This record gives sequence, C-alpha cells and structure tokens, in this order.
Amino acid sequence: MPNSHIIGTGSSIPKRVLSNSDLETIVDTSDEWISRRSGIKERRISSKKEKESTADLATRASLKAIEMANVSPESLDLIVVGTVTPDRQFPSSACMVQKELNAANAAAFDISAGCSGFLYALSVVDNAISAGTCKTALVVGVERLSTILNWEDRSTCVLLGDGAGAVVVSAVPEQGGILSTHLKSDGHLWDLLYSSYRNGNSHTPETLREIDKKPFDLKMDGNPLFKRAVGYLSDIAREAMSHNALTSEDVGLFVPHQANIRIIQGMAKNLRIPMEKVYTNVHKYGNTSSASIPLALDEANREGRMKTGDHVLLVAFGAGLTWASSMLKWVL
Ligand code: ACO
Repeated sequence: MPNSHIIGTGSSIPKRVLSNSDLETIVDTSDEWISRRSGIKERRISSKKEKESTADLATRASLKAIEMANVSPESLDLIVVGTVTPDRQFPSSACMVQKELNAANAAAFDISAGCSGFLYALSVVDNAISAGTCKTALVVGVERLSTILNWEDRSTCVLLGDGAGAVVVSAVPEQGGILSTHLKSDGHLWDLLYSSYRNGNSHTPETLREIDKKPFDLKMDGNPLFKRAVGYLSDIAREAMSHNALTSEDVGLFVPHQANIRIIQGMAKNLRIPMEKVYTNVHKYGNTSSASIPLALDEANREGRMKTGDHVLLVAFGAGLTWASSMLKWVL
C-alpha cells in the first residue's frame, strides 16, 4: 500500500493587520482583555482591493506548496479544500483554485468541517492515496472569517481572522509521512458555534429590508466550547499517540488548532508536554479556522522546527462539533 508523504507546504495571509488596539475603536474591548483571555495580539483581514478572496489566498498558499514540492500543477490528481467561507455557495473553492493553478487533471471539491476542515481534507486525501486512487494531491485550509462576522459582537469578532495554508501530498512506497488520521463529530452540539444568514440561513427572509437589517452573524457559546476544546484535543492526541504506539516524549512537535492560547496550554498541561514542544502563532493571526493548522505547519516548517524523522502531531477542534488528529513522520 502506498504511503502519503507531505512534500511541500505553503501559506498566504492578507496584508492588512488589525491589532487589538484597532479593535478598541470598533467594539467595547481592550488589548488587555483580548491578550489575557485568548493570547491574540493581532489578526489579518482580507480585502477585495488587494485581491484576497478565498480562492486568491488558497491559490497563493498552494503555489508556494507546489514550488516546495517541485511538482507541476498538471500532476495533481486531487484538490481538496477545507473551508467554511467559500467565495460562492457553488462552485467549490477547490474548482476555483484548480482554474488558477491550471491543474487540469485534478478532481476538486471542498469540505466543511469547521476548524477541523484541513485535517478532514488531509484524511480524505490519505485514504485516496492508500486506496491507490490518487498519486499527488493538494490539501488546502483557507478562511475569510472576517466576511461572516458580526462586527458589533465583541465576544466573537476579536477572536477570528483570515488566512490560508496548503500542503502537497504524494504517494510513495517508502514508510513515514501520514501515519494516521482520526476524525470525530458530535452534531448534538452544533448550536455551540454556528453561522447564520450567509449560505443557508434556515429561513428565507420575507423582504429585502429584512436582509439589510440582519448582519452576518456568528454565534458562539464560548465557555462550554472552551472546556470541550481542551478535553477533546487532549483525548484525540492521546488516541493518535496510542494508535501509533508513541508517547508524548516521542513527539517532536505538536501543532494544534490555534483558537486560544489558554486552550492550547490546557491541552499541553493534560498531556504533560512542555510548551516548547507546541507550535503557536495564535498571537499573530487569531483563530483562522480551517487555515490555522496548515498555516502553523508551514511556518514551523520554514522556521526549521521539524527535522526529518520527527513525529509531528496535528490536532484540531471546531464547529460541528468536529475534532480530528493526524500523526506525521516528517519526511522533508
Ligand atoms: N472584550 C471585553 N470583554 C469581553 C469581550 C471582549 N472582546 N468578550 C466578552 N467579554 C466579557 C463578557 O461579556 C463577560 O462579561 P460578564 O462577566 O460581565 O458577563 C466576560 O468578558 C467573560 O466572558 P467569558 O465568555 O466568560 O470569558 P472566557 O474567559 O470564557 O473567554 C473566550 C471567552 C475567549 C471566547 C473563550 O471562552 C474561548 O476561547 N472559547 C472557545 C473558542 C473556541 O475554541 N471556538 C471553537 C473554534 S472556532 C471555529 O470552529 C470557527
């Protein structure tokens, strides 16, 4: 059975930086509150003027991953994009990326799994490679959460941001690469975090005036989510380690979903791992949902945080609820 190796990583972030101090002028909040409760100092906000649509950001991240992988876009036979903020309800962001890349031989589709979107997409690609139906694939996590936020709700708008990350995965006979993926969902708890209005509010507005009055909205019950995030991330990290007969000491780097530094610290405490073994960039980008793990993985890779042969554990948690893991043996 072929193994799935990550042979290239890339990322792309919007130019505009929105700092906590900037947010103080938009909602009743403070740099002190945001930093202390979440660890976030700034986030990136996309702009149409800068050509930073979901497809644009995804394409830029993908081009960097393709360059590092040293493959041609024509060699891609699968493109899977994790996102909850596509530019259009249809077609998929993946098809738009396919066009921009001229990846004429790929099948392309999106996956919606909240902040676990990238790991869900990686799992689909890993399974396709194991089954022999795909040889070279592009996996992208991309979000423009700024476009679905209610910018009057201080409890959510300070936490989220925009960005994209991508990896190229290749089928090879050599051992290593993606050792495992685990996916979980609990739909009973979907209403702890959801978006309304855009792309499928459950009721049709009666009049255009009603649409005008109803801003994009994102509802989050932060406290119960926080507790579940710490618990589920810890549980799925343990499951991934035990599945691969590894302990936390065997893992060189943990790359968790970047939602809140206190969630990450809570997970690290549960797993008894020092924070030096945990990659974080939440202070720079906030929570970028599906983009958070591939963006962190690309930065960690380019900073030389992983050596060939290191075990790297990716863990995500998000809306759905969904949570997921992937254990990698780094081959780059
Ligand atoms: N500035 C100032 N005060 C604020 C702000 C703000 N931006 N937001 C909320 N507050 C106030 C609240 O009104 C509340 O005031 P009160 O005590 O007078 O009622 C107080 O701060 C405390 O609010 P809590 O919600 O209890 O604060 P908490 O310590 O739980 O932190 C947070 C909130 C950061 C949202 C945290 O719960 C969290 O990170 N939750 C998880 C988020 C998450 O993981 N989401 C899932 C992934 S996202 C995805 O899938 C797209």
